Amino acid sequence: MKELLLALPHRDESYRVLIGPGLRLGLGYLLSPLDFPSRLFLISDSRVARLHGAAVQSALAEAGYTSTLLTTPPGERAKTWTVAQRLARELLRLGAHRASPLIALGGGVVGDLTGFLASIFMRGVPLIQVPTTLLAMVDAAIGGKTAINLPEGKNLLGTFHQPRLVVIDPDFLHTLPPKERLNGLAEVLKAGFIRAPDLLTYLETVGPSLFKNPAAVTDIIYRAAAIKAQVVAADEREAGLRRILNFGHTLGHALEQAAAFRLSHGRAVAFGMLAALILSEKLVGLPQEEAQRGRRLIQSFGLVRRAPALDLKAILAALPMDKKRLEKDLVFVLLRRLGEPVIQTGVPLTLIKEALRKVLGGGG
Ligand code: GLY
Repeated sequence: MKELLLALPHRDESYRVLIGPGLRLGLGYLLSPLDFPSRLFLISDSRVARLHGAAVQSALAEAGYTSTLLTTPPGERAKTWTVAQRLARELLRLGAHRASPLIALGGGVVGDLTGFLASIFMRGVPLIQVPTTLLAMVDAAIGGKTAINLPEGKNLLGTFHQPRLVVIDPDFLHTLPPKERLNGLAEVLKAGFIRAPDLLTYLETVGPSLFKNPAAVTDIIYRAAAIKAQVVAADEREAGLRRILNFGHTLGHALEQAAAFRLSHGRAVAFGMLAALILSEKLVGLPQEEAQRGRRLIQSFGLVRRAPALDLKAILAALPMDKKRLEKDLVFVLLRRLGEPVIQTGVPLTLIKEALRKVLGGGG
């Protein structure tokens, strides 16, 4: 088992992030030192609940916990106020109280929704994250961001609510559709681009057969999770450094939205990172050979095969900028060198269009 400690010194708090194959089967014992009441509530989507609910519940029972499993529909549509309220009412009916821990068993959607609920139910109850997707393991489950969506957009209601423990079992990835694994891989690449060129070298070495190598999978999760934990520990509320986690995400989010979410988050971020590499070369001096190396790596994992046919106007309309102030509002994370991010505002719209055209080819 590998272990990270996410320390939040300003609040004199910390929590452990544990990583290791099979950890889900010891979940109850891992919770024991936290002195929770013996009644726990698991929240999962119906797909993950069907695949893993029973095993996790018996792992909890083994250590003396009684758990109730509450389920949501799979996918982004569960991240709503309606679902959060339904879960809260179910929790009340089941006798949950101010000290009742909620365990999020699932991907980013379940983690965000359960975290949101845990932060407001009875003014806040303990949260444990047990991520089952690569994306949640290396990003969403660590760092305490929670959210639900509104019809107007994603993640518009949210809180910061740090988990008390994160338990990452890479064995969950065996049941994850390959498309979902790729999604998470984009965030692993992102971690390398912003903070760890050695992780990029490692990914170049293991290459696309990564998922056939369980030790390598555990290793990259550990390395990417460590980067996330370091960044969050330094800047919990995204006042500065944490913004670097948005590398590839400014255009990535716009692409996702322009594609009406038919483009996965990972692929959208991968196209966003390709464009950010171009802008980095143009604006902040990223050496051409490093940009080329970044591009090759993103391409080698098949993340940017077949560009989506999206209208440039629709992508630009989805960018979070005020029509009057235009590009002054847009914040890009660019790279001076691989591993050396810089926050850049005022990126000219003409360059953004040019970069998008390049990465989307005929589709733009
Ligand atoms: N996923 C970006 C962050 O946690 O800040």
